[in-house]
Amino acid sequence: MTPKRLTEVPNALNEEYYQIGLDILGSFNKYRPPLNIFSFKEDVARIMPFYKVGDRLSNEQIDVLHKMTQEGLIFVSRQDHPVYVDHISYQLDLVLVDRNLKEKEIADIFTQALTRRMAEFFEQPVEVVKQKLWVDLMVLTEYLYPDINRARALVRRLHTEHSLENHSVNCGFLGLALLGRIKNGNLEEAMPRKKFDRIAAGLFLHDMGMAKVGHHIRTKPKPLTIEERNKINHHTKVGHEMLARLDLKFAEIEQCVDQHHERLNGSGYPLKSVKQNFAGRLCAVVDSFCAMISKRPYAPALPMLKAAVELNKGGLYDMEIVKMLQALLVVDLKIRQ
Ligand SMILES: [Fe+2]
Ligand SMILES: [Fe+2]
Repeated sequence: MTPKRLTEVPNALNEEYYQIGLDILGSFNKYRPPLNIFSFKEDVARIMPFYKVGDRLSNEQIDVLHKMTQEGLIFVSRQDHPVYVDHISYQLDLVLVDRNLKEKEIADIFTQALTRRMAEFFEQPVEVVKQKLWVDLMVLTEYLYPDINRARALVRRLHTEHSLENHSVNCGFLGLALLGRIKNGNLEEAMPRKKFDRIAAGLFLHDMGMAKVGHHIRTKPKPLTIEERNKINHHTKVGHEMLARLDLKFAEIEQCVDQHHERLNGSGYPLKSVKQNFAGRLCAVVDSFCAMISKRPYAPALPMLKAAVELNKGGLYDMEIVKMLQALLVVDLKIRQ
């Protein structure tokens, strides 16, 4: 039985409470849900407390709760948003079934879930961890593919502090929003879902080779020695070698990993052997932009528009993509500095 729609209860409720369905209820601890639960009393048209965190539900209450959830009468408070975000971020596919989450709440959940997954992957770049990351990335692409404009809410949540996982998530979010801009907001017409999935994965995983560079080098606040610099410059090759081992050898992912430090004027690394592909050019723009807008050990963060202007210099990047990035920032996101 499908739950009643929110329109059957007063609209104002939607501002203060989320209606939850059986999927969400089923994801909670049965006896001790992680947040306060409220029920809608139809006769008085009011929300009343049903369960308070710290209490324990009886079997009888569990049955009532199940029945009322089925009838669309069970809610959680938006004040508990942080708890709810944290809970759903561990079972990200719930985002796709919860019809009552707002776009920005979903964006918070994706940010938290994917940043944690990327951190796990950099800590342990092995198949089991990659699989979990992959599942979550596919939830993201399933959410974005029918309506890529949803990625704009994600771009409003870019991390400002630099870390490898923050940078990867920023590149993923921004790159997908930019891809949407380039494809006129209609991905379903522009490319098959599989191709979209792989570009998304490439954007998130472009720096995977950095997992093999020591933490002390990645976060060093002082200038690097030549040897340390060489190690870092080697990360595209290391990443390339990891692709096959992790069952990620798809053209778009490979292009992002291999080509994101290559520049159109022939500079950058590794030395160019073939022409940069679209995914590689996209990833290069996004990677440089995301590096500039975050605070790094050796440089302050640039405002977004200033960083976008920097990309115009020197014929290094695909100017069509840079122009689209500027349009995304100014026209779509209304960013003013
Ligand atoms: Fe890189
Ligand atoms: Fe990068």
